[in-house]
Amino acid sequence: MNILIIHGPNLNFLGLREPEIYGRLTLKELNAIIRKYAALKRVKTKIFQSNHEGRIIDLIARHLNWADRLIINPAAYTHYSYAIRDAIKASGLPAVEVHLSDIKKREPFRRRSVTKAACAGQINGLGPISYIKAIDFCLKRKF
Ligand code: DQA
Repeated sequence: MNILIIHGPNLNFLGLREPEIYGRLTLKELNAIIRKYAALKRVKTKIFQSNHEGRIIDLIARHLNWADRLIINPAAYTHYSYAIRDAIKASGLPAVEVHLSDIKKREPFRRRSVTKAACAGQINGLGPISYIKAIDFCLKRKF
């Protein structure tokens, strides 16, 4: 199975960014954990981070023929990007939305996800384990 993994805006700041919420792991360390688990499960991954809405949409479009599944942390775009929601839907890729923090227990603006409707599942609040559970979800769930 090939899984495209996209981290949205400001996730390049992991490690520095509000560690009480997002932990002290850097994006590089998070990606190493994801890659290690994926290798164990014989899953191929391509991992990207972007701070730009259009680039995220282009990445989804560009990998349509390669990817079997999409794992996406749209970060702040979660809460207002109908363009990313449409791109996920348009791609036809079975998708899982992930968040490091528990967005349902945070500020009111974070409790709503507009991208979730285009995804088969949403996993929140487990830090790096959110991504591990998302890989398991991709493997176990029949789409
Ligand atoms: C986040 C939650 C979002 O509300 C926030 O804007 C992020 C990270 C998370 O992984 O917990 O950038 O997606």
